[in-house]
Amino acid sequence: MLKKNTPPAAGPRILTLRVLRSSPSEATEPHWQDFRVEEAEGMTLFIALNEVRENLDPSLQFDFVCRAGICGSCGMLIDGKPGLACCALTRDYGPEITLAPLPVFELIGDLSVNTGKWMRGTAERLETWIHSDAEPLLTALEPRMEPELAEAIYELDRCIECGCCVAGCGTLRMREEFVGAIGLNKIARFRLDPRDERSDEDFYELIGDDTGVFGCMSLLGCHDVCPKGLPLQTQIAFLRRKMAVVGLK
Ligand code: SF4
Ligand code: SF4
Ligand code: FES
Repeated sequence: MLKKNTPPAAGPRILTLRVLRSSPSEATEPHWQDFRVEEAEGMTLFIALNEVRENLDPSLQFDFVCRAGICGSCGMLIDGKPGLACCALTRDYGPEITLAPLPVFELIGDLSVNTGKWMRGTAERLETWIHSDAEPLLTALEPRMEPELAEAIYELDRCIECGCCVAGCGTLRMREEFVGAIGLNKIARFRLDPRDERSDEDFYELIGDDTGVFGCMSLLGCHDVCPKGLPLQTQIAFLRRKMAVVGLK
């Protein structure tokens, strides 16, 4: 029995997910649609959206694979800010949460965008693979690498290609050829790697203009929204200095 002055236990919140819906293939005009779900302990937006799809509207489109912040599939605008829906706890938000697809990328429908197409185009353009004239010896042991250097490369390799930095970048809204923080981070990663024989002059050819490191306005929206906490700010500043040295030669 409740004591006289004990307030009644608060029930679970009813959340309103306000989702920007659209379907380019069916030429549906973008419109907001509200879905109400009961919040549960430890609920993430992944769980909430699945409840919507299972119980309210099976046509709702969104992407998830790992549900653990690893695959990079579930990026979306959450209350206007790019983030991973599988890592977003509903308790960190108000009772009304707006969800919209990441801008910049090709829209597939509702909250689903084609990040892969953009990532592939950028990777091809920046040639984000090891460039070496050495003959590959498939049976030989890989050359040793100092642990500190391997760690430094791994730190930049943690990017999950979620696209949040791309969606948070003001320059990319104005200049669609801009390679974004993810592109610059990848150059920084291959520049560190001693197996890649490219010189700074070679990297300058790839990013030494305003579609590369000199187009970045340094407002650091990318750094603020990266869910993996990559050191984008320091990498961009470092690359800019290195590329400026080449440009001034
Ligand atoms: S700092 Fe550069 S790359 Fe990052 S969001 Fe701003 S313009 Fe884009
Ligand atoms: S740098 Fe960060 S925000 Fe950008 S794609 Fe990689 S993990 Fe996502
Ligand atoms: S589902 Fe893989 S990062 Fe969110």
